[in-house]
Amino acid sequence: MKNILIIGSTGQIGSELTAELRKQYGSSHVVAGYIPGAEPKGELAEGGPSALADVTNGEQLEAVVRQYSIDTIYNLAALLSVVAEQKPRLAWKIGIDGLWNVLEVARQNGCAVFTPSSIGSFGPNTPHELTPQDTIQRPRTIYGVSKVTTELLSDYYHTKYGVDTRSVRFPGLISYVTPPGGGTTDYAVDIFYSAVRGEKFICPIAKGTRMDMMYMPDALRAAMELMEANPDKLIHRNGFNVTAMSFAPENIFQQIQRRVPGFEMEYQVDTLKQAIAESWPNSLDDSAARQEWGWHPNYGIAAMTRDMLEKLTEKLKK
Ligand code: SER
Repeated sequence: MKNILIIGSTGQIGSELTAELRKQYGSSHVVAGYIPGAEPKGELAEGGPSALADVTNGEQLEAVVRQYSIDTIYNLAALLSVVAEQKPRLAWKIGIDGLWNVLEVARQNGCAVFTPSSIGSFGPNTPHELTPQDTIQRPRTIYGVSKVTTELLSDYYHTKYGVDTRSVRFPGLISYVTPPGGGTTDYAVDIFYSAVRGEKFICPIAKGTRMDMMYMPDALRAAMELMEANPDKLIHRNGFNVTAMSFAPENIFQQIQRRVPGFEMEYQVDTLKQAIAESWPNSLDDSAARQEWGWHPNYGIAAMTRDMLEKLTEKLKK
């Protein structure tokens, strides 16, 4: 990786991945791609080049890739699961028509491409405990349908045209920097804001509903390490199961309450979110990622909770 373009650099993952990539590869080599209305600000804008890079505009992507001699694209443009159910056509336009543009530009300019998949690529008839790497993927959300398609189209461009496509199936991502928007796993971020603000948390997911989660520093490392992995060792490509922890609302609540005595939570289950959550795995088997490119998480639920509370308290003071 010499020159990198991040599509969606101001989003939940992009805002942190851009900074990490700039640390590792040099500020001038990492271009923060954005769309009008979501311009980079502060450190993201000042720390390196940025350019308009709308995933739905193939010509614009081509121009940026040429201008900056891009050889690696992190394609992070997407609508999350709940908001995608409300705007299925737009979710497809961004997720799949957009991916097609990215893959075409990559094919013509010799770029490697990382496009995240998700636990959302699994569905109700997938085995829910220790979900295998290779298993049934018949999701019933448009988000999941677009993620399965992402995996297949990315594999297709690799086998047919030799494009170096790679991806992971991210679990719910937890971070104190940029909030997620419209996901099923968002509650695991929102609960920290309530705790730090001294408010009662209204939980939209029912007691006992386990889902895989990961702290953002691990997620960034996963994306970067996979893109640096030796291709000869990769049996799978799009996408690898990765996980760091699996918990239900009561587990994360207890972890927080230990450190924030008096913190309260009440369940008011959201039917759509709950149906989606129940269709997703309870825990992933990520042994293929561990074997093929040495994946391992650094943060479990306790270490993540400690760090989130500390960093978010600091952030909300400002
Ligand atoms: N965090 C995503 C969502 O909840 C799942 O990948 O939609």
